[in-house]
Amino acid sequence: MSDELIIRLVTDPRVIADPYPLLAELRETSPVHKLSFADYWVLTRYDDCRMALRDPRMGNAEPGDEVPTLTAERVRTPQEERTFLFLNPPDHTRLRSLVSRAFTPRRVEGLRSAVEEMTAELLDSLAASGGGDLIEELAFPLPANVISELVGVPRADRDWLRPLVSDLAGTLEPNRSQADLDRAETSAVKVDGYFNDLIDQRRAEPSDDLLSALIAASDGEDRLTQREIGLTLSLIYAAGFETTTNLIGNMVHTLMHHPDQLARLRAARSLVPGAVDEVLRYQPPVQVDARYTFEEVEIGGHSIAKGSMVMTLLAAANRDPSVIDDPDRFDITRQDAPLLSFGSGIHYCLGTSLARLEGQVVLAGLLDRFGTWTPLEDDPPWKDRLTLRGLARLPVALS
Ligand code: HEM
Repeated sequence: MSDELIIRLVTDPRVIADPYPLLAELRETSPVHKLSFADYWVLTRYDDCRMALRDPRMGNAEPGDEVPTLTAERVRTPQEERTFLFLNPPDHTRLRSLVSRAFTPRRVEGLRSAVEEMTAELLDSLAASGGGDLIEELAFPLPANVISELVGVPRADRDWLRPLVSDLAGTLEPNRSQADLDRAETSAVKVDGYFNDLIDQRRAEPSDDLLSALIAASDGEDRLTQREIGLTLSLIYAAGFETTTNLIGNMVHTLMHHPDQLARLRAARSLVPGAVDEVLRYQPPVQVDARYTFEEVEIGGHSIAKGSMVMTLLAAANRDPSVIDDPDRFDITRQDAPLLSFGSGIHYCLGTSLARLEGQVVLAGLLDRFGTWTPLEDDPPWKDRLTLRGLARLPVALS
């Protein structure tokens, strides 16, 4: 029974549009579920997911490890070098610490006025046309421009990078196919070449962007190699892009469907940060995280063999009634609600403050500029993705 629920999660368009009833059923009927045909486990309870993400006995598969997938097939982890999202300690620890020296809260705060200006520019053109597809005209270009500004990618190259980066992000999907992996490999070669040239340019002529800071970052004698900087740039570029696009799209969509909450926001702008966090909980832009077991572990009374995959369904964990009251209620005044939307443990998202900053600036800007937001489509389609869940389009009239 639960096998079927999990397959529907990635294949049934009605479930992709609204996965939450199915996630609740899974959490109630089989919260620590092993697929009958693979060493693949699916977790839906908050405590189990959090523990799995933080447990050092689980992490990323090493090159050459054979990893179970959602089909019965096991696939071999490729040998090629990986971004630190896919590394384990001590390599992960070293890279994350060097990158954190360059990607600081101060650097993010320094972007605030640029984010405000970029948002105002996009809202100006939406005002001129009385609205439009908010995914294409706001939720995509804003994070793309912001991440380009942060990293130091010229704006003109953004549209060329977009589909390539989207191919890379596609490898995070649990039902990725061999064709998806092949396409991502071809795109990775192009992205690597692009960033390599950009690094050379910045070495010759440093500026005040993150790329120059990564080149300069050091820990004693230790510095990032050219290859490590290239991989870090593609990670930050990919991680900061579609995730935040989904956050903005999910936020506007959810608020339009909860007019009472929108009215509260209009009455008290101090509720904006809480509203962004509630969207992150209620409609998380990243719904799935996964770990590979280095040794046998026990979760919720089940023994999980070494070499298994453990999928944590973050969207289910965020709505676990054992950690949050009335979890299906969207309530922007919740305080400190437990949230796994940015992961947990050593891979906890490095971009949380930037993502929150963008969400908050966009929300405040939309409230200031437009007194009425009217959806032009009842059920706009969702992208065919589970891990990076977001709307494919969101036509809205703004006045
Ligand atoms: C709403 C937007 C975002 C969401 C929901 C999100 C979510 C996540 C999640 C769930 C992880 C953990 C992955 C794991 O456990 O394996 C993660 C990691 C990461 N995120 Fe984000 N993210 C967002 C925005 C950003 C932004 C804007 C950036 C950078 C500019 C960023 C950079 C990263 C990096 C570098 C990691 C890897 C950390 C590590 O492996 O140590 N993210 N993110």
